[in-house]
Amino acid sequence: MLKGKRKIPKVVVERLPRYYRYFDWLEDKQVEKISSRALGEYMGASASQVRLDLSYFGDFGQQGYGYNVRKLKAEMERILSINRQTSFVIVGAGNIGRALTRYGAFKRAGFVLKGLFDVKPLLSGEKINGVLIHPVEELGAFVRDQGIDIGVIAVPREAANDIARVLVDSGIRGIFNFAPIDLEVSSRVPVENIHIIDKMLSLSFLIRNVPPGGEAPEDHT
Ligand code: NAI
Repeated sequence: MLKGKRKIPKVVVERLPRYYRYFDWLEDKQVEKISSRALGEYMGASASQVRLDLSYFGDFGQQGYGYNVRKLKAEMERILSINRQTSFVIVGAGNIGRALTRYGAFKRAGFVLKGLFDVKPLLSGEKINGVLIHPVEELGAFVRDQGIDIGVIAVPREAANDIARVLVDSGIRGIFNFAPIDLEVSSRVPVENIHIIDKMLSLSFLIRNVPPGGEAPEDHT
């Protein structure tokens, strides 16, 4: 249970996977405890920021001792549902859809790909990495019947909102969107947008705006 049921700010939630990665690495190196200051150095944040972030999840730190790596990692696994399986489908079996299907790290992190969907009849029945491509007409019933958690949208921009609507109407719990469009979906269904070009444009801005010999602007993510 989350401590006192305080609402966790989105920025904190977004930092969690990074904390988790670090704890995973520390555990691998058999480090038993870590101070908030050392954690902060890794995260590019102050020790007090780290203490505040982690306070949302319970009392894991001890004054003068630091954080117990094994305990906190286990708690993060619980919070991030890493020990529970999360099901997902991918809509659009093109370049992105196929690349994601072949990406082994999803399974290791507890994400189970249940099916791929595409509008092209020729693709139906094909398997990629053991995952079957279904006709997109079957998407709604599939999501509903199997209680799919997450829908990945990897279709062209023009089709993305229609697909999002089908997913939401079928009870999807979250959307991972690759299409270059801001989806119009109910605010009760969280959407994560993955826009590589936006990131490249930000990076392109940064590399042109670093003063000679100076530091890049701070990353506030
Ligand atoms: P692609 O053209 O290789 O694949 C798209 C697939 O979607 C095709 O197989 C097509 O038959 C299918 N499709 C079209 N309409 C559909 C519908 N109504 N229902 C189900 N399937 C449908 O495209 P690619 O390269 O895989 O890109 C997919 C999407 O991701 C595009 O919107 C593209 O703009 C976007 N993209 C996003 C990037 C990012 O950083 N977010 C990077 C590259 C692409």
